[in-house]
Amino acid sequence: MPSKPLLLLTDPAHFEVSYTINPWMQPGIWAEDPAAHLAAARRSFRALAAALGAAGARLEIMSGVAGLPDMVFPANAAVVLDRMALVARFRHPERQGEEGHFRDHFRALMGRGLLDEVAQVPPTCFQEGAGDCIWDATRGRFWAGYGQRSTRQAAAEVAAFFGQEATALELVSPRFYHLDVCFCPLSGGEILYYPPAFSAASLAAIRDIVAPEDLIEATEEDAARFNVNAVNIDDRLVMASASPRLVARLAERGYHVAEVDLLPFMMSGGGAYCMSLRLDRRSTAAGALRRVAG
Ligand code: ARG
Repeated sequence: MPSKPLLLLTDPAHFEVSYTINPWMQPGIWAEDPAAHLAAARRSFRALAAALGAAGARLEIMSGVAGLPDMVFPANAAVVLDRMALVARFRHPERQGEEGHFRDHFRALMGRGLLDEVAQVPPTCFQEGAGDCIWDATRGRFWAGYGQRSTRQAAAEVAAFFGQEATALELVSPRFYHLDVCFCPLSGGEILYYPPAFSAASLAAIRDIVAPEDLIEATEEDAARFNVNAVNIDDRLVMASASPRLVARLAERGYHVAEVDLLPFMMSGGGAYCMSLRLDRRSTAAGALRRVAG
């Protein structure tokens, strides 16, 4: 029996929307009633934690830091695979202060025996963690987004560090600025994705590697509701409130969807996936093999 997935979350005590680094962020709306928005964010966080627990995850919750509100999105902090963490380099100065705090936390996790190695992406490129570099357990490869936040070269850096293949995918829309808001590999081998977020060449690369029956197209509405930004554990999906149509399409494929009201975090441009970072992923094909056997 494999052990339960371990997810890192950041307590939202210091969350706010105080700057704009993506088109979803409107500090003016947050400033109208910060106390009410923060209270809603805390409720939303508790609901997310409960849904992830119910989906079968163990949670590791770290503290945030005042003045670094986007630490609530630990998916951007590192790429983690095979007990190795590669700490991010953020493009925007507003988030660069997070790097040191996350590095310290990953070193503490190493001290607790949860990781074996902690390194950082070289200063020659930007790379925004698992938000822009997603492990595809079915195909045993990374998919790496670039063009908005991470740089193209980052795919090669991640590939070299982990000794795995990484396919670079160019993101062309500022609204879908991280790969995890428009691309989500599922446990059964399907990929839920939003095609308009990608360049023509990147769409061709996806369609070259993934069989047509495994591609599930999200609509503009699904993407704007951050439903592609979902956490998948076996046949469970945890995501922001979705349309009944999407829930039904996923149910046809055998997935149970747990919906959480994540509006306070969507005000910052994030959903369920980027609010968590999976710490226990292994590159072995065990997951895929289990599915075939079952
Ligand atoms: N406000 C954050 C930013 O713009 C949101 C990050 C959401 N993370 C994600 N992986 N999509 O960086």
